[in-house]
Amino acid sequence: MSTLLVTGGAGFIGSNFVHYVVEHTNHRVAVLDKMTYASSRSSLEGLPSERLELVVGDIADVDLVGELVASSDAVVHYAAETHNDNSLLDPSPFVQTNLLGTYTLLEAARSHGTRFHHISTDEVYGDLPLDDPSKFTADTPYNPSSPYSSTKAGSDLLVRAWVRSFGLEATISNCSNNYGPRQHVEKFIPRQITNVIDGVRPRLYGKGENVRDWIHADDHSSAVLSILERGRTGETYLIGADGEKNNKEVIRAILTEMGQDSDAYDHVADRPGHDLRYAIDASKLRDELGWTPEFTDFEAGLRDTIRWYRENEAWWREQKALAEAKYATTGH
Ligand code: NAD
Ligand code: DAU
Repeated sequence: MSTLLVTGGAGFIGSNFVHYVVEHTNHRVAVLDKMTYASSRSSLEGLPSERLELVVGDIADVDLVGELVASSDAVVHYAAETHNDNSLLDPSPFVQTNLLGTYTLLEAARSHGTRFHHISTDEVYGDLPLDDPSKFTADTPYNPSSPYSSTKAGSDLLVRAWVRSFGLEATISNCSNNYGPRQHVEKFIPRQITNVIDGVRPRLYGKGENVRDWIHADDHSSAVLSILERGRTGETYLIGADGEKNNKEVIRAILTEMGQDSDAYDHVADRPGHDLRYAIDASKLRDELGWTPEFTDFEAGLRDTIRWYRENEAWWREQKALAEAKYATTGH
């Protein structure tokens, strides 16, 4: 049995990974999380205390990180500032956490010789044209558009340099857009589901033609565990489940699943610098590590996600008011 240090384990995808690890392995998990606005203690509820410890702290805290890394067998690094819209309002916490926080963790992993897995995003590659068969691969040049994606790109490059210069035993994964339970209501799918629950019309940025490649968070977690267990040091694996849909299609699917007229949404101002299309070629992960996604029916996954938000209003109600107050300042 090993101890995994999971940073950002009280956020959406990090907490999904913690649940996944507790259910599918014998590993113990130490979560290091700053408990920012994006986190939720209740996302870790119900997990056995002998398998899980929650440490509240900052990944940029050198002493705390050194102590935790010293007592861990591997680091799985999810913690980040993650919302593009927020990064357009104030990039500073993105630079602090995504760059300096990652640097702090890498230095601790280097000094203790600890296995490191870095969670990243497909947004580091910029965007692809609409209506085009091309997809991102691990060889696609980096070309990030937003303050968020540029700090994630920078953090990936730090990891690559620590592998090459210091021999750190690290892997990187770049995943496409996740959906599923426990995602913060600032993000597209939960924002629109909770709007409909509140009797508010969903809001589509620009024309709604932008394409995202949706993957269920459980499939992201199973992919990360495969890479952690069998990935080759220094390699980058792209994670995706062939789930391309444009935003209009997603909003119409949500409205239909929730028993509303599928045209009952509004167009609002576009996001500045809005990436057009993301699409992942995950053949390296599938061929090398034998990974396959389980949630290939998007409508079924969406139905489960809608049910979760309907049944767990206490989880999101407070966050919803704060997120919508912020959106009100930008006209979104
Ligand atoms: P999230 O915003 O839901 O959660 C982030 C977590 O990190 C929160 O619990 C927060 O408290 C914690 N955190 C933030 N700053 C911290 C700090 N300085 N120290 C310690 N903890 C801190 O994010 P998410 O959507 O779950 O994303 C997790 C990771 O996955 C990120 O690295 C993100 O870039 C990556 N990713 C996300 C997606 C997606 O669709 N959401 C897709 C691909 C990759
Ligand atoms: O691709 C992976 C990335 O996916 C992750 O790295 C990010 O952390 C994650 O937030 C997500 O980024 P996006 O910017 O794609 O996600 P978001 O949920 O903010 O928006 C998805 C799409 O929906 C995007 O084209 C913008 C649009 N949108 C978003 C909101 C919040 C709307 O049309 N209306 C909205 O209200």
